[in-house]
Amino acid sequence: MQLTDPWQIGPIEVPNRVVLAPLAGIGNWFVRLQAKRYGAGLAVSEMVSSFAIHHRNEKTVTELLRIHPDERTAAGPVAIQLFGQDPDVMRSAAATVAERGADLIDLNMGCPVPKVCKTGAGAALLKDPDTAVAVARAAAEGSGLPVMVKLRSGQRPGETDGFGLAHRLVEEAGVAAIGFHPRSAAVHHKGEPDYDLAARLVESLPAPVILSGGLRTAEAVAVAHERTGAAAVMLARGALGNPWLFAQVLGERAAGPTPDEVLAELDWVMDRAVEHLGPERAGRYLRKFYPWYLDRLGASKELQSALQATGSVPAARAALAHLRPLTAAA
Ligand SMILES: Cc1cc2nc3c(=O)[nH]c(=O)nc-3n(C[C@H](O)[C@H](O)[C@H](O)COP(=O)(O)O)c2cc1C
Repeated sequence: MQLTDPWQIGPIEVPNRVVLAPLAGIGNWFVRLQAKRYGAGLAVSEMVSSFAIHHRNEKTVTELLRIHPDERTAAGPVAIQLFGQDPDVMRSAAATVAERGADLIDLNMGCPVPKVCKTGAGAALLKDPDTAVAVARAAAEGSGLPVMVKLRSGQRPGETDGFGLAHRLVEEAGVAAIGFHPRSAAVHHKGEPDYDLAARLVESLPAPVILSGGLRTAEAVAVAHERTGAAAVMLARGALGNPWLFAQVLGERAAGPTPDEVLAELDWVMDRAVEHLGPERAGRYLRKFYPWYLDRLGASKELQSALQATGSVPAARAALAHLRPLTAAA
């Protein structure tokens, strides 16, 4: 099976097996659209609080749940990731997500952040499988959509509660696919993922497994895919400011981007951020995006700091103008 082959999540057709992972504070509509422009078959949103949706928090509903019309015309479905541990709240939030036009719901059962886990959500659900199953059932009932779940191997190194939970979610709650990040919650994103455990899950689970973890280059993806036999792969940190990775993993290009391509892409991102948030809020929001692109261009520390000090997109464009002659000379 090739990563370019189509596949299905429940009844939903997915045109290839390269997926944008959920990225908190990052995976908005334009980051998902960017991944699709470079070939991603499926893009998952940043995690969104089921409680905030249920209580109609305005920013949550209008910004985090925003699905752009261009995402609809791009090939491949859109998945919204939700977190929460209360089945009734999840049922209600999932219904809203379906009304907003998502094709799939992804549930977060792997987030290690204390703010999420102390409420009993995220990776805390690895130790509370009955609640996890009830939450997944509720999401399906509320939305009428196929549900996938992203989880980790366990809470601490060596634990494999996630393996057992994946089986229960598929067998008892009808979950249509599992996103598996075979690192423990305790290590967050450090260390080698346990691809052997992922391979055992792939072999034993009667549903597709989407592998996550350590997939930073096309070579790393090829090795991990071969070793695990996963139905699909999820790109996360490797795709930050690097949508070219999707095209490389799909075999559509070999080389990395030229400086002009990087600048043009950053331009695109800045335009979309203004469209999403207006020039001032976009200016602040984009500060975390700039280093991903500027590192690639070998920008000086001075330029990096100058961009971090900008408070609007026009100010950032003015700072970036200093870079253009450099890339033209390169
Ligand atoms: C900045 C950042 C934000 C993330 N946010 C989420 C999230 O909202 N939901 C989730 O399930 N995983 C989240 N993750 C985990 C990633 O989806 C992925 O599983 C993890 O980074 C491992 O893949 P990698 O080693 O290729 O980066 C996040 C990771 C990072 C680095």
